[in-house]
Amino acid sequence: MSNDIIDVSMISNNTKKIKAAITAIGGYVPEDFISNKDLEKMVDTNDEWITARTGIKKRRILKEKGKATSYLAIKAANDLIKKKKLEPDTIDLVIVSTITPDFHGASTSPTVASQINASNAYAFDINAACSGFLYGMSTATSYIESGRYKKVLLIGADMMSSIVDYTDRSTSILFGDGAGAVLIEPSKNEFGWEDEFLRSDGVGADWLKIKAGGSLYPTSKETFEKKWHYITQDGKTVFKSAVSEMANATEQIIIRNKLDRNDIKYLLPHQANKRIIDATAEKINLDKNKVLMNIEEYGNTTAATIPLLMHDYESNFKKGDKIILAAFGAGLTWGAAYLTWAYN
Ligand code: UT7
Repeated sequence: MSNDIIDVSMISNNTKKIKAAITAIGGYVPEDFISNKDLEKMVDTNDEWITARTGIKKRRILKEKGKATSYLAIKAANDLIKKKKLEPDTIDLVIVSTITPDFHGASTSPTVASQINASNAYAFDINAACSGFLYGMSTATSYIESGRYKKVLLIGADMMSSIVDYTDRSTSILFGDGAGAVLIEPSKNEFGWEDEFLRSDGVGADWLKIKAGGSLYPTSKETFEKKWHYITQDGKTVFKSAVSEMANATEQIIIRNKLDRNDIKYLLPHQANKRIIDATAEKINLDKNKVLMNIEEYGNTTAATIPLLMHDYESNFKKGDKIILAAFGAGLTWGAAYLTWAYN
């Protein structure tokens, strides 16, 4: 063999692929909440309608003045740090997925990184609405798989109460505040992030958005009077798209990973509406007992729903469990992912 010919088989034999895995979880929701009965006094609605149409009973609300999304994210991160006995200065990167940053212009993640003493980390935000955690996982796992970083802290956090119009019965019944955090590291076993199927489509941007406060409609007296600083949606259209796209993305993951539905241990779907979740599970023919939910307690916490599910059900997960994540949100953004749980 001449000197300038490379033996490719030697390279592949010597290069072991790094797998990324979730190695710790934290979560936080505020104590205060708005119940369906409370909402009855605020808008023309009732507990029966909300329960039957959404599955939601309560949504947690961060009421204290001077506290914002960073507060929720810091609480979730510190919960993780404490449980994992993690030295914060070993974290390389902090990502906060949110559509309710403390400020526009300055991202929220540097505040979070500083407050949790992640002194050797850099930090950035991801804005992908209800798909924010999935998009964040894609980013975080890529950094680990490439070998560039060893510890990435991903936090899905949203203070939805800051953008909800409590005179609008189509949105005020749905959203709540919360945060969930995961640590992503190189896996010490064969389990971890397996596959993802992510998509977006700007054609549906109008269906779910906060119209004002961006560069197209900077905040003005007019936008304020028109209430464009609040979240609005075309609920029915979002509902239908959420079911079809979450089901399709999950199906893609099942097919290309040759997964047997019986072998899937859990589906962790974004918690937007119990009927969306039920219809998605039915469409992909997945046993309802495998579908995890906490929507009744928290409502839709946007980027926080999936990590909060992980936080609440962490003790159920066993090493090697095959888990599917699925989400759909504003943008439009959506996707599904497949992971094998990496610790007991
Ligand atoms: O993460 C993505 C974020 N967003 C979503 O995922 C939202 C997806 N969409 C939804 O969850 C549902 O579309 C809603 C919960 C927003 C609405 O449920 P729906 O089953 O689509 O109700 P609808 O808008 O078709 O309204 C049905 C009826 C209407 O009355 P009529 O015309 O049949 O007499 C509404 O006026 O229910 C009425 N209605 C309500 N009644 C009591 C609508 N909202 C309410 C309410 N309380 N809050």
